[in-house]
Amino acid sequence: MSQPVVDLDMTNGIAVIAIDSPPVNALGHAVRSALLDALTRAEADPATKIIILACKGRTFSAGADITEFGKPPRDPGLHEVIERFDQCSKPTIAALFGTTLGGGLELAMGCHYRVATDTARMGLPEVKLGLLPGAGGTQRLPRLIGPEKAVAAIVSGKMISAKSALADGLIDAIVTDPVQGAIDFAHTIDPKVTVRVRDRADKIAPAQADPAGFEQAAAEATRRLRGVEAPAACVNSVRNAFTLPFEQGLAAERDMFMHLVMGDQSRAQRHIFFAEREAQKIPGMEPGLKPAPVKSAAVIGAGTMGGGIAMNFANAGIPVTLVETDEAALQRGLDRVRDTYDISVKRGALPAGATAQRMALFAGTTDWSRIAEADMVIEAVFEEMDLKKQIFGRLDAVAKSGAVIATNTSTLDVDAIAHSTKRPSDVLGMHFFSPANVMKLLEIVRGEASSHQSIATAIAVGKAMGKVPVVVGNCDGFVGNRMLARRTTECERLLLEGALPQQVDAVVLNFGFPMGPFAMGDLAGLDVGWRIRKHRGVTAPISDVLCEQGRFGQKTGRGYYIYENGSRTPTPDPEVAALIEATAARLGITRRAISDQEILERMTYPMINEAARILEEGIAIRPSDIDVVWVYGYGWPVWRGGPCFHADLVGLPTIVERLAHYANTTGDVGLQPSDLLTQLAAEGKGFADFGKGAKAAAA
Ligand code: CAA
Ligand code: NAI
Repeated sequence: MSQPVVDLDMTNGIAVIAIDSPPVNALGHAVRSALLDALTRAEADPATKIIILACKGRTFSAGADITEFGKPPRDPGLHEVIERFDQCSKPTIAALFGTTLGGGLELAMGCHYRVATDTARMGLPEVKLGLLPGAGGTQRLPRLIGPEKAVAAIVSGKMISAKSALADGLIDAIVTDPVQGAIDFAHTIDPKVTVRVRDRADKIAPAQADPAGFEQAAAEATRRLRGVEAPAACVNSVRNAFTLPFEQGLAAERDMFMHLVMGDQSRAQRHIFFAEREAQKIPGMEPGLKPAPVKSAAVIGAGTMGGGIAMNFANAGIPVTLVETDEAALQRGLDRVRDTYDISVKRGALPAGATAQRMALFAGTTDWSRIAEADMVIEAVFEEMDLKKQIFGRLDAVAKSGAVIATNTSTLDVDAIAHSTKRPSDVLGMHFFSPANVMKLLEIVRGEASSHQSIATAIAVGKAMGKVPVVVGNCDGFVGNRMLARRTTECERLLLEGALPQQVDAVVLNFGFPMGPFAMGDLAGLDVGWRIRKHRGVTAPISDVLCEQGRFGQKTGRGYYIYENGSRTPTPDPEVAALIEATAARLGITRRAISDQEILERMTYPMINEAARILEEGIAIRPSDIDVVWVYGYGWPVWRGGPCFHADLVGLPTIVERLAHYANTTGDVGLQPSDLLTQLAAEGKGFADFGKGAKAAAA
């Protein structure tokens, strides 16, 4: 028999209803039914004076069970449960701790009172799943904290601390122990009076009189958002809280929720939610394998990446030693780190005093013996194989036995680097993305000899740093850059065939990326790719010509665009248009008008094709890992779910047909649809079906 998911204890007139559904007390069907049952029994008992809603385990409820979304609803719905707590004839008190999220917070707001521990955090993060709070959240939160604060919280999905919640009126008291605190709080209230949130009008009255403040807060909250549906729905629904009667507001909220939950955007965002968590699961890894503790770390090279990587360690509370070739380089690196922290403090992203606190975790040295005790060492020196081999040979001699030794290389062979040590099983790639202290993606490159232990440790450290780790195989460009290279090739071709940088960028921007590829190139510096091309003996006619003219992008004020007087806004440059035309003419290419649809296809389908090859070769474990790489490393819009999810929406037969067409028109055999894509399309399947057969066989 399965364990009961809700526990009811009725002692001394106090009924404690406790949800017990690990890991996060999500409000699935079984929990909802049991909650209703427990509440009915508690309310019916004449001895009961107060009803406390609590949770067991590590947190109060994290909300609706996301796995139920998109499936036929099963009664009782969360609405009904919340309604019953709201209508209960006896006072109900929610006892919050951990993270009270989404439907969990909506349930708590359906109670008459709320108490929370001082470390508790609460929020309505539904917007991050492409939804709006669909169980009364948009109607009750404004009644508790006011529509201005509510719209900011709901559109951002950010968590609210217990302290702010108390100050704003979301909770009634901060307590030490949730249940005991709720019992103590119960003594301070009149047990015959129930205060329903729905009936409270004081916080919405000012917006009813003058909505200007709300409209300003709503505009501010949605200012930077493009293409996404959910935030606007959140705003409209919060507005209903002070323009419509409660029941009507609730009904409208429900309609909007149903519309969003059935839509592709929310499906995509839910896909990424689970994909991110799935990426941590490595097939074949021994169950229960514990990551090795990392109590101190070292980073070799204090340049652009080394400094950022070291900041990640310090941000996770891990002391870190930076190693450089000389004192001047070391000082420059440490100064850059300090400046970056100072900027974050100035912007309010970090509290005052954070710079000193984080810098206290840094040590700098030119003496390699100082890193002998580090549990993890990450190398981030120049991208030169001979140098890396030499560094790893030296690390082999210095690093303690069992330390994880990682390279941040973006293009070199991790196996070749690993075999310059006598302990290749401790070596892997930890490929951070620039700026390393900001970008969330961490590709963990497993070499042929990398041990499960070192991979598990790298994943754990990545998570502690707040990164999203994805384990990938060792090949040129790994997953992300290997796919990006396909897009870069098409960028050049599109210019030669007839497009302009601004047209291509506009299409990519409209798709939902934060930046187009040409503006991105200008930001990163065109000279980087130029140097790599020269080294590899390859050409890119337009980009080469720009670089030959000293147009390296933003840093020289000119690249694919022009940047006047230090501006960072790309302005189209007629000189570039002329240069593109001249280059095309020199190569005998007749330029033509290219449609936005063609641009979009060529900016995405070749990458999708490469994703399929990456899967065929086993470089990525599963399609959803590739989606996570693109969402967290390259700004693929989360509401489009990543390249593989998007491909399934478009339909693989279409993609296969278009790729064959472009292979034909460009003469590039690399654009021929891969075997996997062709096979899946022929079988009427999608990326979502990849590996299913194998999984079923294993089960
Ligand atoms: N539904 C179903 N499963 C959930 C879940 C949920 N709401 N929240 C977490 N889980 C699962 C995760 O998938 C994970 O499963 P696996 O171990 O099988 O991978 C497990 O619970 C643990 O989750 P995390 O690894 O994320 O644990 P954490 O401690 O790092 O984080 C958390 C805990 C902060 C609660 C985080 O899980 C989280 O943010 N969850 C989502 C919360 C959320 O978005 N709630 C709103 C739901 S929508 C809603 O409520 C709609 C409505 O209005 C009715
Ligand atoms: P960088 O040139 O900014 O920094 C390299 C640093 O290494 C310099 O400070 C140099 O003094 C130091 N160094 C060189 N030899 C050393 C030695 N023997 N001992 C100690 N320090 C030494 O380079 P960047 O951009 O930080 O790149 C570092 C690595 O990270 C490269 O492998 C690169 O491919 C990779 N990478 C770079 C990304 C980027 O966007 N810049 C992104 C992801 C990876």
